[in-house]
Amino acid sequence: MQQVESLSVGRLNCDPPQASESKTGHPERDAARLRYASTMSSLIARDRSCIWHPFTQMKTAPDPLPVVRGDGPYLITENGRRILDGISSWWVNVHGHCNPKVGRALAVQAEQLEHVMFAGCTHPPAVELAERLLAQLPPRLTRVFYSDNGSTAVEVALKMAYQYWTNRGESQRRTFLALEHAYHGDTVGAMSASHESLFTASYAPLLFRVERAAVPPDYLASMDPSRDGDATGPLEQIEALLARRSTEIAAVIIEPMLQAAGGMFVWKPAFLRRLRELCDRFGLLLIADEVMTGFGRTGRMFACEHGPVEPDLICLSKGLTAGYLPLAVTAASDEVYDAFLSDDRRKTFFHGHSFTANPLGCAVALAGLDIFEQESVLARIGAIASKIRSRLKSFVGREYVRDVRQIGGVGIVELETGGEGYLAGIGPRLAAEFLKRDLLLRPNGDTVYFMPPYVVTDVEIDWVFDQIEDVVPGLMKQAE
Ligand SMILES: Cc1ncc(COP(=O)(O)O)c(C=O)c1O
Repeated sequence: MQQVESLSVGRLNCDPPQASESKTGHPERDAARLRYASTMSSLIARDRSCIWHPFTQMKTAPDPLPVVRGDGPYLITENGRRILDGISSWWVNVHGHCNPKVGRALAVQAEQLEHVMFAGCTHPPAVELAERLLAQLPPRLTRVFYSDNGSTAVEVALKMAYQYWTNRGESQRRTFLALEHAYHGDTVGAMSASHESLFTASYAPLLFRVERAAVPPDYLASMDPSRDGDATGPLEQIEALLARRSTEIAAVIIEPMLQAAGGMFVWKPAFLRRLRELCDRFGLLLIADEVMTGFGRTGRMFACEHGPVEPDLICLSKGLTAGYLPLAVTAASDEVYDAFLSDDRRKTFFHGHSFTANPLGCAVALAGLDIFEQESVLARIGAIASKIRSRLKSFVGREYVRDVRQIGGVGIVELETGGEGYLAGIGPRLAAEFLKRDLLLRPNGDTVYFMPPYVVTDVEIDWVFDQIEDVVPGLMKQAE
């Protein structure tokens, strides 16, 4: 804690919460908060004695940030630092932390029905959420299957695609086509479809084989004017691969428009359209993993709209619940769904989780959709996108910058580090420096990106880019 406190230098124009201020209007709740706060002083020590954190080398990791509260785009630590959440807490938060409308929806649902098993039972939030999602998704998607998180949404899509073919008697379709730099999650199937990396290496013998192809460089978007313009060429590598292997492939799986964890690569929409054309030509299912891109991140409600293309299966999570609770959806077309309808029980989709379609998760998801509609959130994302783009321009062409990219509310600066990618040592050093300034950014190796909740203001965006402009050149010089 001391260490974190001593890092607090830069301040935003926001006062830390006052201990005397009543937060709830209920004195007894305030007293409980204070009692709770008094137990927090040893939070980091307690954490270190009993917690194993994700993606973290516990031997060398710095102390975790002790976060006790959220407020719009800010995370508030136990000692009152207000830290701007520049990555929406791993890309999940959309309408700000502790949004009162979402909080109320959660409280109301908790008094109605907290959970019921979803095999043989149903409940209003699950049905309403499915109806409202399908009304917004591409029309080809007509059925909603619930699970718990992004990785399970992907596992479900892979299993559905595979069994779609076996139920139809085509059991030779045992593999998938996935893209280089893909990231689809951490369960075994999702890892198999992801690019081989530091994250998957330990499990390589457990993973199933997939075919892999690269996005042609022409189809990658950049703010560099020399790389502007439409891409029209054929997808030669993918086409050749499909010409050879399409009868062994069940589906093509993609992160439409923005390949995030694998390097923050932005596509030109034509790539999406060409892929759909190839899937149609070779009779393959197209799985759109919109776990990260869904719910406005790329400037449209769903990234497939940029094509526009209609996938056969779509995976949603993260922003689905406004970032409140773990819930996921895999939506399927009639064609996929119909292949499972049979008097033969073996054709059933045998997959489910204890918390499938959790009513609390569905209720907050509905509240999140209400906010999108009632508060013109997509228009706000458009304004955030313009602001981010205007600030990114100053990075184009700088000697320490390899590329600058932007899509929707996501701004990306790839640094010139000699191609170390995710392992670039500059990433953790930048993150630590940003945190000293009360800014939470987690560069993806040599790639700094900003992906704020949609409640961020122009002043805050300016402040974030001022910090990036201030911190990055200095650290890049030191790294030389
Ligand atoms: C595109 C994509 N798919 C799947 C996942 C996995 O989601 P989760 O972390 O909820 O399992 C992620 C997570 O970042 C993702 O970005």
